[in-house]
Amino acid sequence: MRNLRPLQLQPRERFNVFVGDNGQGKTNLLEAIYTIATLRSFRTAKLTDLIAFGATEARLGARVVKDELVRVYEVDLAPGSRKVRLDGKAVRPLSRYFGGFNVVVFTPEDLALPRGSPGDRRRFLDRGAFNFEPGFLALASDYEKVLRTRNSVLKQAGQGVLGGKQVEELLAVYDTQLAQLATQIISARQRFLSTLGPELVKAFSAITRTGLAAGARYVSKLVDERGVVAPAVIIEERLREGRARDLASQSTQLGPHRDDVVLELDGREAGSFASQGQLRAIMLAWKTAELEILGRAHGDQPILLLDDVSSELDPARNEYLFHHLASLAGQCFITTTASTHVLLSRDRADYRIQAGQILQ
Ligand SMILES: Nc1ncnc2c1ncn2[C@@H]1O[C@H](COP(=O)(O)OP(=O)(O)OP(=O)(O)O)[C@@H](O)[C@H]1O
Ligand SMILES: [Mg+2]
Repeated sequence: MRNLRPLQLQPRERFNVFVGDNGQGKTNLLEAIYTIATLRSFRTAKLTDLIAFGATEARLGARVVKDELVRVYEVDLAPGSRKVRLDGKAVRPLSRYFGGFNVVVFTPEDLALPRGSPGDRRRFLDRGAFNFEPGFLALASDYEKVLRTRNSVLKQAGQGVLGGKQVEELLAVYDTQLAQLATQIISARQRFLSTLGPELVKAFSAITRTGLAAGARYVSKLVDERGVVAPAVIIEERLREGRARDLASQSTQLGPHRDDVVLELDGREAGSFASQGQLRAIMLAWKTAELEILGRAHGDQPILLLDDVSSELDPARNEYLFHHLASLAGQCFITTTASTHVLLSRDRADYRIQAGQILQ
């Protein structure tokens, strides 16, 4: 897969530290683990990108041991095809593949989120909500479908393909469906955030020990100042009120697809006010908080993939981070360019990674 040579790895139960120079395959290794667990990559939307240049296929697999039960997860990638097996057999429905093997990944790209686009933050939030409540995925894809259909009606109305009465009738149907799904989506996101919130505060203070508080606030035109989500009937009404505007812009202007989650430091928008190191601490705190709440929700701690631990945190903060990680249960895969950045003295195995090969 990518630049990784065929390899077999028997990782330790706790900390596995991969040390290597730039471009040696550190992120590729974490991507491989992430892909086996989620059937997606955190770097690309096209899984075939993972096939090594010049090769015709990539094969990934993991033996996962949990409560003395062994399960084998396998993914074979070829151009235009993805084959998935669980314990050697095809998986139907595919949802059976998920749930037994959860991962949380932190990559340097996550640092851009507080300053990035709302769309990126929504996707980030939704990944968390989905891991927390697997039913969220179906909800989100139903919403997407209805939204797309509604938007295409708005477009066809604009092009004069559909008559006024027809448009009214169709929109009435889609508004009802969209409103129903919208309240459910916002509620699910809020459930996730309100469970995450206290853990985020705790993790941030464990990592920084500054007395500043980290937070994540959901921003939506469909949530009032007390955090109460508008019921479906109200959303439907608001969609009806906004119909002329939506017809003019040929797109749906109101809904969870326009919402945002703002990361905060002491009540101020972190994207505008936090330092680089503070942003890193906030995002790391978010990820470790996610580990905690997923561990609680599913009864076992997910695997943490921590890419590119660097010297961006000051030595004290770096020490607190590892102190905090050591206090959590679960397996971690950590990559770095210098092993001295990883301040763990116990339960660790170090590997060198060089030109796609892992040397122990
Ligand atoms: N499909 C592919 N086939 C072969 N090699 C690939 C493929 N995709 C990426 N590579 C190569 O993999 C190499 C290692 O990439 P990777 O991102 O894992 O490095 P890294 O060790 O994480 O480096 P850094 O410290 O810079 O983050 C790069 O040289 C890249 O060109
Ligand atoms: Mg990398």
